[in-house]
Amino acid sequence: MRLVLHIHAIVFVASLISTPQPAQAQLMGHGGPVRAIAVSADGKTILSGSFDTAAIRWSLATESAEQVLRFHSDAVNAVAFLKDGRMVTAGADGRIAIWTTGRQQPDQVLEGHRAPVVALALSPDGAMLASASWDHTVRLWSLADGTQRVLEGHSQNVNGVAFAPDGKSVVSVGYDLTLRIWRLPEGVPEVVALPSPQNAVTVVPDGEIVTGAADGKLRILSPDGMESGEVQAAPTPIVALAKSSDGTLIAAAGIGGTVAIVDCKARALMRVLAGSGPPVWAVAFVPDGQTLLTGGADGKIRRWNVLTGDPVGSDLPGGPADPLAAYAGDHGAEVFRACVACHTLSDKELPRAGPTLAGVYGRKIASLPGYRFSDALKTMNIIWTPETVAKLFEIGPNAYTPGTKMPEQRIGSAEDRRALTDFLARATAR
Ligand code: HEC
Repeated sequence: MRLVLHIHAIVFVASLISTPQPAQAQLMGHGGPVRAIAVSADGKTILSGSFDTAAIRWSLATESAEQVLRFHSDAVNAVAFLKDGRMVTAGADGRIAIWTTGRQQPDQVLEGHRAPVVALALSPDGAMLASASWDHTVRLWSLADGTQRVLEGHSQNVNGVAFAPDGKSVVSVGYDLTLRIWRLPEGVPEVVALPSPQNAVTVVPDGEIVTGAADGKLRILSPDGMESGEVQAAPTPIVALAKSSDGTLIAAAGIGGTVAIVDCKARALMRVLAGSGPPVWAVAFVPDGQTLLTGGADGKIRRWNVLTGDPVGSDLPGGPADPLAAYAGDHGAEVFRACVACHTLSDKELPRAGPTLAGVYGRKIASLPGYRFSDALKTMNIIWTPETVAKLFEIGPNAYTPGTKMPEQRIGSAEDRRALTDFLARATAR
């Protein structure tokens, strides 16, 4: 059971980009499994974290990546938005970074954890951040001055953390078969024994605590830790939980790829999302009361209507909003679907997270005026040609252009690389 989250220890080799199947509503941009998703308070912006070490800020309306945040040296396991709109990323490197939209580097880095940070929670008043770590601690960080308090007691990895709605306690769960309710400000814990290792926790608006366990069960506890119900939500360990903004629904992702929607008050399984596909590592509700986002092993973020269980999203690909509609049937354009969230083909379109590829051939790396490239790229001597672009995705951006913000991804097949570079010649010529 403990293997469930230990996949982090394996160095992730970016999945090979293969021709994507036509499917709806996917945000493609990560070069590795999506491990965490957060949604901004207005529901318009998403932040995702991945095993590829990057976080991506997305516009849900345009389905485009607006910023790639690269700072962590290992998987980004947890992400959050602060009340002022700033973003937080936490990594397997033990660090927590706080970002202002559009800035290249974090404003602030919170250091102290000695092992991967795997969960984050923001206090209801927005003044404090709680982090859960495999160093067996929970830490409370003051966002005003960056000072930390260490909550010690768990004897194993801490996997989940959440604040009570009144902000007067923080709860944590871990592999040590306990739930701890730390009463603030003293931080004295009440310890509740549970029968299965716990992977996630959330607290709904009326104060009930919901945990997700390795035995596939959700356990519901009163604010003072009395068990008051359980729901078998998955046949496999639950790895992620999310609550809807009104707290009535809980989404629970099982490592086997199932996503259960549970009516929390009724203690009832409402439905299991169909065909959610490969293992899901992250779930998050959009505050519209019906949309759920899932992210998992294939690196894509999918959208679902929780009321019907159906996938939702724009008419991508192929519809009027599909930027590649004009290239239907073009294999190279299909390969380019792995790039389109971040790169436009024409400089007339609104900029995305990466520089436009309009006129890319013959251009020196990091020379496009008006785009803020990483410093590491500015001193490189690469001229973009079909050969150098092919090389970039044969060996991967990290190896070919070390220090790049572009998430790690490779195109394994020479034929696909050729189709891509031929396509770019046709589609980016000015
Ligand atoms: C998640 C976003 C993202 C995805 C997906 C992505 N890129 Fe990028 N790409 C970037 C960013 C950001 C940069 C700028 C890197 C920097 O400044 O560190 C970049 C840089 C580049 C450059 C160098 C441009 C220059 O002017 O120097 C090329 C070429 C490129 N990408 C091609 C591609 C192709 C082809 C794909 C798909 C196979 C792709 N990218 C997928 C974000 C992305």
